[in-house]
Amino acid sequence: MRSLGQIKVKRVRKANPELLKALFAVELSAHVSPWTYDDIAWCFESGVIVSVLYEGRSIIGYAMVRTAADEAEILTIGIVRSRQGLGLGKKLLAHGLNAAMEQGAAVCFLEVRVHNSPAIRLYERFGFAKAGVRRNYYGAQPNHPAEDAYTMRCELKDAAAQIAAFLN
Ligand SMILES: CC(C)(COP(=O)(O)OP(=O)(O)OC[C@H]1O[C@@H](n2cnc3c(N)ncnc32)[C@H](O)[C@@H]1OP(=O)(O)O)[C@@H](O)C(=O)NCCC(=O)NCCS
Repeated sequence: MRSLGQIKVKRVRKANPELLKALFAVELSAHVSPWTYDDIAWCFESGVIVSVLYEGRSIIGYAMVRTAADEAEILTIGIVRSRQGLGLGKKLLAHGLNAAMEQGAAVCFLEVRVHNSPAIRLYERFGFAKAGVRRNYYGAQPNHPAEDAYTMRCELKDAAAQIAAFLN
């Protein structure tokens, strides 16, 4: 079992170039089709909930959750490759969903690649259920074919116990 430094998740509301650089590095490490630096900066300008996962002083993951009225949407979540599969995704997702509930969200939606088993498992652990399929939602990349997305949905009151269990 790999040993981890001190783990903490917190909401960050203001961006600076150093933070954006660190988040972008996570994005490049975690995702097949990463967001751009500007996509990440946009989240801070648009009131998106940005939950940042720290190991000691290093940023090792983050989640972006947007809310509108009583609905939330997970825009992205990612953890650096070397720290995946250690249970940290549950902590990060719990933080983002809790913040969304505090902002009045009652239901949460997301899209996920149909072959992304770790992410699907993570969402199912919080009570998300598949609601549909979007064909070729993720366009082809130079070294990755186009892929369908599942849409998933969760009533946040049903996730409350799980969220509480994984909060700091
Ligand atoms: C998806 C992601 C955030 C999950 O975080 P994580 O820290 O790796 O996940 P956790 O260790 O908390 O595990 C979550 C669940 O997935 C399961 N899981 C982990 N790796 C898995 C794998 N390779 N295959 C199947 N299930 C897996 C875990 O067992 C756990 O389920 P359990 O609690 O029932 O045992 C992370 O893997 C990641 O950053 N992936 C790349 C980016 C990405 O795909 N983001 C999602 C976009 S929708």
